[in-house]
Amino acid sequence: MKQTILTGLQSSGDLHIGNYFGAMKPFLDLYNDKKDSANFYLMVADYHALTSVRDREALKASIYNTVRDYLAVGVDPEQVTLFRQSDNPDHTEMGWVLNCMVTVPFLMLAHSYKDKVAKGLEANAGLFTYPMLMAADILLYGTDLVPVGEDQRQHLEYTREAVAKFNNAYGEVLKEPKELILEAVGVVPGTDGAKMSKSYKNTIPLFGSREDIQKAVMSIVTDSTGDRPENVYAIHKLFRTEAELETLYTENAGKYKNLKEALIEDIDAFIEPMRAKRAAISDDDVKGVLAEGARKAKLVSNDMLGRVRDVIGITI
Ligand code: AMP
Ligand code: TRP
Repeated sequence: MKQTILTGLQSSGDLHIGNYFGAMKPFLDLYNDKKDSANFYLMVADYHALTSVRDREALKASIYNTVRDYLAVGVDPEQVTLFRQSDNPDHTEMGWVLNCMVTVPFLMLAHSYKDKVAKGLEANAGLFTYPMLMAADILLYGTDLVPVGEDQRQHLEYTREAVAKFNNAYGEVLKEPKELILEAVGVVPGTDGAKMSKSYKNTIPLFGSREDIQKAVMSIVTDSTGDRPENVYAIHKLFRTEAELETLYTENAGKYKNLKEALIEDIDAFIEPMRAKRAAISDDDVKGVLAEGARKAKLVSNDMLGRVRDVIGITI
């Protein structure tokens, strides 16, 4: 039996290097490693994005951009089922079924919801049930492994809980997935040293122009003591080996500006080939890839949802 590997990203803004190293690269590495022994799914979570985006044009642009990003970093849509959550209504249907398996107090403990409430923000009901839509994304494809960043660990626990509740009631229908979180990149730090995140405004954009990268790197917070600017080093580690950095940081001990300039060069050199590839991808290319992805995804999810409908007693 082939393994199934699936991950998703919300289309809610421009991707940053935290998304790339935390989720996209682990997915690509697995893909290059296991091309022949696993099925791969890559999803644009646009209905998850709706829990936070209220701007029609922004959501639309972000959907196109997320697919472009995937293609530019090297995802081959012939090999990977690259699709959009909203193109496959099985997800929202399965999400409903799973919502009926878990309790309100359980969902109230989810970080994605709790953190918003703690900040005094208005949490919509979609945000509240977010973990069960994500569980649906994963379970519809019989997924074994889900490569994600550390912040998604709890969502995988929630998914397993939904599986336990469902299977306990109806028999072994759903498969328990596992997260794949790489120690070294589980939390990529941002320009202020905290976790890189859209909502903290501390990101380095994955497909930014050289000026964008320059601006972000120059804004990395450095304290004026010590030879090694830790916040610069922590990001630099993603682009160079420790041995290379050892030499660079020893030669430039205390010279923060030189080190930031070296980091700008390294990020820019890394992104340049992907940037060129990305620029050549048209809106029609994106639409074509998504149409084919939706077709392939539905073949699998329809089957699973059919079984679910059957065991819960909906098929009459
Ligand atoms: P999001 O932007 O929240 O939709 O995240 C998309 C994916 O990137 C998820 O798997 C996250 O866990 C991962 N991710 C986001 N920010 C970081 C970060 N700073 N470090 C590592 N992974 C991250
Ligand atoms: N919640 C994830 C995030 O914000 C995105 C996501 C939605 C996802 N569905 C998924 C990730 C299924 C992995 C598997 O990053």
